[in-house]
Amino acid sequence: MIILGIETSCDDTAIALVKNGKDLLGSLVASQTKIHQKFGGIVPEVASRKHLETILPLIDKLLKQTNLSKNKIDAIAVTNKPGLLGSLLVGVNTAKTLAYLWNKPLIEVDHLIGHIYSAFLDKGLPKKFPVLAVIVSGGHTELVLMQGKNKFKSVGRTRDDAVGEAFDKAAKLMGLGYPGGPAISKIAKEGNIAKLPRPMLAQGLDMSFSGLKTALSKVVNKIPAPALAFEFQEAVVEVLVTKTKRAIRRYGPEALILSGGVAANICLRERLEKLTKELNIKYYLPELKYCMDNAAMIALAAYYLRDNQNNRWYDIKVTTNSVLLC
Ligand code: KG4
Ligand code: ZN
Repeated sequence: MIILGIETSCDDTAIALVKNGKDLLGSLVASQTKIHQKFGGIVPEVASRKHLETILPLIDKLLKQTNLSKNKIDAIAVTNKPGLLGSLLVGVNTAKTLAYLWNKPLIEVDHLIGHIYSAFLDKGLPKKFPVLAVIVSGGHTELVLMQGKNKFKSVGRTRDDAVGEAFDKAAKLMGLGYPGGPAISKIAKEGNIAKLPRPMLAQGLDMSFSGLKTALSKVVNKIPAPALAFEFQEAVVEVLVTKTKRAIRRYGPEALILSGGVAANICLRERLEKLTKELNIKYYLPELKYCMDNAAMIALAAYYLRDNQNNRWYDIKVTTNSVLLC
């Protein structure tokens, strides 16, 4: 079964073709980072207009590149939430139109479930569950327990800023430009300075990053940038690792997944790797380009959303208590 995936939830237009939920036939991502850089962050209206210009030529390009005609495609999968409304609408309406014209089933996929499935590209599903996913990006900070195929439970999340958003805002305050995460990591150098707070560290699995950014804003002109960047990154990573460790102790997963744009942070990748070795669980760290927003993860998730016995597609929603199947 070949699924065409479409992802436009934020500022990347992404298209992919995945065979049998495992083999990547092709994947293209048209990034808008350069366009938004001059505004210091993503401008939603600009993002949706750019998606509109890019999406059809990108689909065309991928079909040519993979030498596949539309007749070979079995279904179309698209991110339907969460994300920027205008951006989502471009992807969803394109997918709906193509599904209608080409007479293919349309599967709507939750972006976060896509990030979880990105870990299984080229590998297939793990043999044992549960698996804990740490999803960290500019829009999300979420701990999700995957209890089985199509069974998800959100067990912790940020109560305010997403972790990538906190990096971006901190970098803006420090005059480092956008995107902030790579800029902060690049200049970070250990220095002898007072510690920034580690918000909500003591208990629970929820997180908060907006206070950390406020704390940084109060000292930004008094501390050398490299030392402040180092301390900010340390604070973020310490919170994420502590919460992940607590979730592992509480739920006993067989494996840990790290996904989302902030998974590019070397310090976070290494500390979580160390943690998985200490606790003797498997570590799924998708290749960086599949940690970031892409359409391969959407096509892959759609494949597993299929109820083969009853020949239909499930609609899976992540909820805080249980999973709704409808
Ligand atoms: O997943 P992504 O490409 O887009 C969404 O937000 O969905 O993530 C982008 C975020 C940005 O906030 C960026 O600052 C952050 O990922 N990021 C990083 C690093 N590279 C990208 N954060 C920390 N350290 C990095 N090396
Ligand atoms: Zn994402």
